Amino acid sequence: MSCVPFGLVVQWQPLRRDGECRRRPCASERRPPGARRRRRRPPNPPLSVPRTAAGARRYRAERAHRECARWEARWYRGCPSALEAKGVFVAAEVADVGIAGIIGFVGAGNMAAALVRGLLGERVVTPEQLWATNRSNDARLAALRDRHGIAVTRSKREIAGAASILVLAVKPRDMSEVLRELDGLVRADHLVISVAAGIPLRTIEAALPGAAVVRAMPNTSAAVQESATAVAAGAHAGPAHLATAETIFRAVGDVMTVDEDLLDVVTGLSGSGPAYVYRLIEAMIHAGTELGLEGPLARRLAIQTLVGAARMLETSREDPGALRERVTSPGGTTMAALRALEDRGFAAAIREAIGRAADRAREMSEEFG
Ligand SMILES: NC(=O)c1ccc[n+]([C@@H]2O[C@H](COP(=O)([O-])OP(=O)(O)OC[C@H]3O[C@@H](n4cnc5c(N)ncnc54)[C@H](OP(=O)(O)O)[C@@H]3O)[C@@H](O)[C@H]2O)c1
Repeated sequence: MSCVPFGLVVQWQPLRRDGECRRRPCASERRPPGARRRRRRPPNPPLSVPRTAAGARRYRAERAHRECARWEARWYRGCPSALEAKGVFVAAEVADVGIAGIIGFVGAGNMAAALVRGLLGERVVTPEQLWATNRSNDARLAALRDRHGIAVTRSKREIAGAASILVLAVKPRDMSEVLRELDGLVRADHLVISVAAGIPLRTIEAALPGAAVVRAMPNTSAAVQESATAVAAGAHAGPAHLATAETIFRAVGDVMTVDEDLLDVVTGLSGSGPAYVYRLIEAMIHAGTELGLEGPLARRLAIQTLVGAARMLETSREDPGALRERVTSPGGTTMAALRALEDRGFAAAIREAIGRAADRAREMSEEFG
């Protein structure tokens, strides 16, 4: 029996109809005379209450996995004779997450690989539900197939025919070619999700008339399942399409729904955001080493400071301003540091950076749209 939980997919287990119990002999019956009893596997440690979004996802996955294991144990050791006597089938697994149907990735690069890892890691789908295609890089396709057991093809017709959800994970400059190649292959019941930065919904909808389209703006932290993703629905996309898109991106981090006209700002804030944070950490390491710390030590301190501060924000639900004030004693070291930052226009520089990135995203929409 599979150990993968499904939301919409129900796996059925055939039961014998002859009324005979198919219970395996129990351990004491199987043990040769005189053999020592095998030590029992220790029970699973209790699950600790998650405190972060990533922890919550791991918690859900582990809980679903344990529930599955319990089902398997019950199935193989016990004999559901009441059901068996009726000669019926029993639903072996129904869980609260999952996507039915096949997801086809058009573009098999970094973003597609991150989504494949997340979807399988979070058990949202099984490998059989994932297909991928790209333009020419056979080695990359083969790596995805070998590592994750997903199906790969070079044919857009084949992938569009098999999949009910198509994820367009190509660079913005390749989008017009992909849309041309998909012309006539996309059905009205397809959900098309684009992750290409700067390609407006209207461009995709014009090329694939009638299709439900959702545009997503994830960020590079999808590679470690910590993306901040915003999704926006097109004209033919309903709540169910949006919910499916959210389920897909939740597998690689947090996901929020916005109107499309806000996606440029989202691009400026969270799409390009990891780079601002890398720049901050880079500057902190540089300063630390200039002031006498060893490089690796400065790096460790800076990264852990960032992780700790982010976790404080995530768990305390307090405003960042309130947390900042709490750690800033009048006349203390932190106050001296923050004054230096503001003297050099720290907040204004960040505002300018996000504004410029949003403007560039808008320009790109006009260029590619
Ligand atoms: N990576 C990120 O962290 C990130 C974050 C936010 C948004 N995004 C968005 O995600 C999209 C993909 O980014 P990426 O980093 O995954 O790019 P990537 O690693 O360069 O992958 C692009 C993929 O598109 C394929 N491709 C190009 N033309 C194609 C065609 N005509 N038909 C089928 N496949 C085609 C390429 O195939 P070949 O290798 O065979 O050429 C490659 O597999 C971009 O639009 C980007 O804006 C990415």
